[in-house]
Amino acid sequence: MAGFFVVFEGGDGVGKTTQIDRLADALRGGGSDVVVTREPGGTDLGRELRQAIMHGGHVAPRAEALLYAADRAHHIATKVRPALERGAVVVQDRYMDSSIVYQGGARGLGDEVERISLWATEGLLPDLTVLLDMEPAAGRMDRELDRVERETGEHKSLIREAFVARASLAPERYVVVDAAQTIDEVAADVRAAVSAALEAAGMPGLPVDGLGVEPWGTP
Ligand code: TMP
Repeated sequence: MAGFFVVFEGGDGVGKTTQIDRLADALRGGGSDVVVTREPGGTDLGRELRQAIMHGGHVAPRAEALLYAADRAHHIATKVRPALERGAVVVQDRYMDSSIVYQGGARGLGDEVERISLWATEGLLPDLTVLLDMEPAAGRMDRELDRVERETGEHKSLIREAFVARASLAPERYVVVDAAQTIDEVAADVRAAVSAALEAAGMPGLPVDGLGVEPWGTP
């Protein structure tokens, strides 16, 4: 396919939206055709599914997994593949690793979740996945945690570990960025990794910006 597909993954609150905006600005500044999108909710149907999954009542775990997969199937077929086919850079907030980690891992549905997503997308994998990795915030509190905070804190640690494990399975298709750095530092790391991956795919890399952060200087 002619374009380039970059996905951001990571736990809640690691700064994906900010970094996606920063990367999209840099790509547009370099003259690329850029499509910024998200799952769930990157299409009209997806917005309805997002509402049903996240803001409705209880959803049975297998139904939840299938709703994410339905959102993904429609999104990839109607928005992402056409953009890639015309040569755009697609910058996407979450993809199938989120299903593998949250539904497959945290909800205990196992490996079938990955197969469902691969079927839903006819096997489309990102050219690069940027994993924004950070210690869950609950771990930094000094007072004693209540039950809910403790449970969600533990859950968040497992989610973090599951994302890192995904990245280690295919290191050539992932970059793990320390999201506890400043916004500018994270943006510089992301930019350097995306630029290198674009060039490796035969596309133009990113120009150096004037923010005082040296994108190529970070090891
Ligand atoms: P976000 O769009 O604010 O990141 O929220 C999406 C939420 O949905 C987030 O808690 C992660 C969750 N999610 C899944 O559980 N499975 C998925 O496949 C996706 C895409 C998101």
